Amino acid sequence: MKNHVYINEIGKFVGQEIVLKGWLYNKTHKGKLYFLMLRDGSGLIQGVVFKPDVTDAVFEACEKLTLESSLMVTGTVREDKRAVGGYELQIKDVQIINIAGEYPISPKEHGVEFLMDNRHLWLRSSRQFAILKIRHEIIKACRDYFDSNGFVLIDAPIFTPAACEGTSTLFETEYFGEKAYLTQSGQLYMEPAAAAFGKVYCFGPTFRAEKSKTRRHLTEFWMIEPEVAFMDLDGDMDLAEDFLVHIVTRVLENRQEELKILERDLKPLESVKKPFPRIHYDEAVKIVKEAGLEFIDGNDLGAPDETAISEKFDRPVMVHRYPAEVKAFYMKNDPQDPGRALCVDVLAPEGYGEIIGGGQREDDYQTLVNKIQKHNLPMSAFEWYLDVRRYGSVPHAGFGLGIERTVAWICKLPHVRETIPFPRMLHRLTP
Ligand code: 4AD
Ligand code: MG
Repeated sequence: MKNHVYINEIGKFVGQEIVLKGWLYNKTHKGKLYFLMLRDGSGLIQGVVFKPDVTDAVFEACEKLTLESSLMVTGTVREDKRAVGGYELQIKDVQIINIAGEYPISPKEHGVEFLMDNRHLWLRSSRQFAILKIRHEIIKACRDYFDSNGFVLIDAPIFTPAACEGTSTLFETEYFGEKAYLTQSGQLYMEPAAAAFGKVYCFGPTFRAEKSKTRRHLTEFWMIEPEVAFMDLDGDMDLAEDFLVHIVTRVLENRQEELKILERDLKPLESVKKPFPRIHYDEAVKIVKEAGLEFIDGNDLGAPDETAISEKFDRPVMVHRYPAEVKAFYMKNDPQDPGRALCVDVLAPEGYGEIIGGGQREDDYQTLVNKIQKHNLPMSAFEWYLDVRRYGSVPHAGFGLGIERTVAWICKLPHVRETIPFPRMLHRLTP
């Protein structure tokens, strides 16, 4: 169609007649005027229909239009500082494409379950628009970071024969008469890839049968996982820190408008600068106890513990060297303190808790064999993984960043369910 423009580019067409294609977001009527708020996926703009300027048919079409009806309008672009987005459209012609039935989502308050059932429609609201545009920016920033720092993208498989993050959250499926699992993490594949390409990363959906309802667990979530040969725990923490600063900086640079829609306080994001505090697990436990929380020594940190720790700092905090007992089988023990794992969790500020988990991997063949046995994992499923230690084993490390938790933190959302277009959770498989 000639003259078709998108709302986010409309500033280039001031004074010109253009065509917009989109949906009716809102409508108000005052005597000889109709104000049509239009959206086209790229933004919002108000169109003004003045009766003396249009045919009767056009004015009647405005009367017929219901919320979320699709339409094509022709009009002249005017600059107007007070208008949404800074421009307004003086409409000359309206062509209805489809009259929408009574739209289930109205500006009134709806319950969360209702909105989740209507997630496919809820995506059209300005809040979801802002969140998912920020999600896109975060993902792009992640990819750009690794792509411009010499990492090679190596896609990990979704069907796997082995558990990476414990057997209690595995989704099992049948694979031509064999048992297979949906991947919990691409890590086990990144380790051999790092031995082939040096610095690698994968980015894809990962799955965990999380049987509890919390504000930060999905059963299907997206994880980006770098892995680097010849890197130790300190190097891993340097990488995580630099990576997170890059992500937050990019969102602040490119998504001001969306952060404003969400009424996000920018101060806490602006203080995400290097260096991040690095604290030992023992120090973290001290903070938890000082906060008056009950804590059993040697345990993993729970969500309330992480909240208490992260509230002490104005930027992400890195907690390292958890007891090896509570961590995964592949982690290397600290040679200086063998009960501890050379691992790190990065906790996001403002109470968000863990967004990154990672560390240095066990690179000794026999130690790893012992650990696989100790965790009661089937050795046969890990023979290929052990080859990384059989043939030119080197110190190596990496981590995984959960995209949804990162989006929740950066957008300051109360729950991860809004951070992914179509969330999968306990009791939620639709839409
Ligand atoms: O700490 P996790 O379990 O670490 C791993 O999977 C490692 N194999 C990663 C690696 O070293 N390559 O998970 C990493 C991150 C968490 O910090 C969290 O952000 C996210 O993945 N995550 C979840 N996000 C949403 N829902 C869940 N159920 C999640 N489980 C983990
Ligand atoms: Mg973790």
